[in-house]
Amino acid sequence: MAWQGIIITGASSGIGEALARELAAPGVTLGLVGRNAERLGSVAEAVAAAGAIVRQGLFDIRDADALRSFVNDFAAAAPLDLVVANAGILDGRTPDGDIETAAAARNLLDTNLLASIETLHAALPHMRTRRTGQILLVTSQAGLAPLPDAPAYSASKAGLISYGLAMREAMREEGVRINVVCPGYVTSGMTAVHQGPHPFKISAQAAARKIIAGMEADKGLFGFPFTLFLGARCAIAAPAWIRRLVMNGMRFRVARYDGQKPL
Ligand SMILES: NC(=O)c1ccc[n+]([C@@H]2O[C@H](COP(=O)([O-])OP(=O)(O)OC[C@H]3O[C@@H](n4cnc5c(N)ncnc54)[C@H](OP(=O)(O)O)[C@@H]3O)[C@@H](O)[C@H]2O)c1
Repeated sequence: MAWQGIIITGASSGIGEALARELAAPGVTLGLVGRNAERLGSVAEAVAAAGAIVRQGLFDIRDADALRSFVNDFAAAAPLDLVVANAGILDGRTPDGDIETAAAARNLLDTNLLASIETLHAALPHMRTRRTGQILLVTSQAGLAPLPDAPAYSASKAGLISYGLAMREAMREEGVRINVVCPGYVTSGMTAVHQGPHPFKISAQAAARKIIAGMEADKGLFGFPFTLFLGARCAIAAPAWIRRLVMNGMRFRVARYDGQKPL
């Protein structure tokens, strides 16, 4: 698939950074969004060295005005072929065992769910006008198999899966393809603060390659690794005692971090 105008949110680290590096090539314009100037700048340097034109968006993804003006400015300069709504945070049970607060849940839903929906809608008018384009929502298997140690994170991803699949059908006739990916454990800033088992963890580069293959095949809902994704898809239909048995082996805590690094 030849995407030439690409915006990636959460491009300063982990999966977003790996996608930017994989997709960078001469003739490609990459819009990279993040908050950490130093890390975003070093990703920008790397993708520019690979021949891509770079536009950096240094803002908080929850700032809808900044997001829309970045997307509009990008689309005025280059045709917008692909938008990856990837920026996200993890929160949940604290290292001393407390469950999340309502304020933490709201903050997480603002970032992972509402800002991702804003990202999709910021891109949509440009793609509907051209009757072409692709939008990827990065969700999680936690959206299929709810995590007792991260209720809001699970809810944010379940909401995004549902929203994405509904929008995929809604946009079907208009030439805009919407894909939803559910990664398993991937080495990144997020897994650095996840204090628990990481079965079948893969590198961010391996994850990026699987994501690109899924987008190229225009899969509606896809995930990896296969075993974990299959288990997660069955989880919601399984009796609660089976789910509890499996999930008991995957309990975790979330180290305190500022959304970028452990505190
Ligand atoms: N790693 C996993 O095992 C895993 C599994 C399933 C799903 N995912 C999903 O994959 C996505 C990427 O996460 P990751 O694992 O690559 O973690 P990561 O290394 O921590 O990267 C998260 C990215 O999101 C950005 N971000 C977070 N909050 C933001 C905000 N308010 N405004 C702007 N940018 C913000 C960060 O940018 P700054 O630091 O510059 O703010 C960073 O670039 C997330 O949606 C996550 O839920 C990850």
